Amino acid sequence: MSFPTVRMRRLRRTAAMREMLNQIHLNPSNLIYPIFVEEGIKKHVPITSMPGYTRVPLSQVAAEGKAALAQGVKSVLLFGIPAKKDEEGISAYATDGVVQKAIRELKKACGDELVVISDVCLCEYMSHGHCGIVKDGEIQNDSTLELLGRIAVSYAEAGVDIVAPSAMMDGQIATIREALDEAGYDQTPIMAYAAKYASGFYGPFREAAESTPKFGNRRSYQMSQGSPQEALREMELDIAEGADMIMVKPALAYLDIIALAKANFNVPIVAYNVSGEYSMVKAAAANGWIDEKTITREILIGMKRAGADLIITYHAKDAKSWLT
Ligand code: PBG
Repeated sequence: MSFPTVRMRRLRRTAAMREMLNQIHLNPSNLIYPIFVEEGIKKHVPITSMPGYTRVPLSQVAAEGKAALAQGVKSVLLFGIPAKKDEEGISAYATDGVVQKAIRELKKACGDELVVISDVCLCEYMSHGHCGIVKDGEIQNDSTLELLGRIAVSYAEAGVDIVAPSAMMDGQIATIREALDEAGYDQTPIMAYAAKYASGFYGPFREAAESTPKFGNRRSYQMSQGSPQEALREMELDIAEGADMIMVKPALAYLDIIALAKANFNVPIVAYNVSGEYSMVKAAAANGWIDEKTITREILIGMKRAGADLIITYHAKDAKSWLT
């Protein structure tokens, strides 16, 4: 049967009918709100390439957690900007490091109402800006693993709810799982940045976190863009090593990878709607070229439709405004 017996428009006639038949719902509790917390500042510092976003002083981090909850968002993802960087990333696993302090502040202020996730990486703590130890110009895999394990344990000691390793070192999930278990944190889940691409979309983040590599690029550890098969392998390996959830990052240009993840694995799929994706929307909206709320909703619905269960997004900050 076809037209004129079949008329697709019959089910689109009223708003109520369209809403009744809607299969994809954006729920703020599926969104994760990133926070950049900086050591040694007293006031919020605006991030110019990410309008509406700031680097947050420790004294304001609890207020940020509450602001997330007020938007209906249940979870935050912490990134730290330390006062000092070196070649060993010492401040990344310090008990009194900026992220460890922020975790304690957030848990004190929000308790179990808020899920606190912390990014486990070294790039923000290394003077050279790479995600691991550098020797003779090469980013070392195995010696970096031990540091990543230490960072994860130091976050767990501070009370973090979930750790999110993003360094793209081989074996990082197994190492972190083992380190957490040995330290008595067998209940701390790992959200693995499994399919993380070397991407131009991280530009504004690197300005925000001061983590641009001082030499070379991240292409020897982050994935190259043209091979979906490699993404499947990364995700499979991370799950085998003990990842509780897997992430695809960036999201907008990688919706096919999100769909692949959903079709192939039985773990929650997380999409990271990264800084460059956010900044493009903000810049076009500021020029009056697009409608920010409509576009934001459309982008996030697209990610959900592709298969994302959770979305890390800077738009979570004002979820209420574009959700309603
Ligand atoms: C750390 C890390 C990065 C992002 C998240 N974790 C930067 C990078 O890999 O260079 C990017 C997030 C964003 O762009 O929003 N490795």
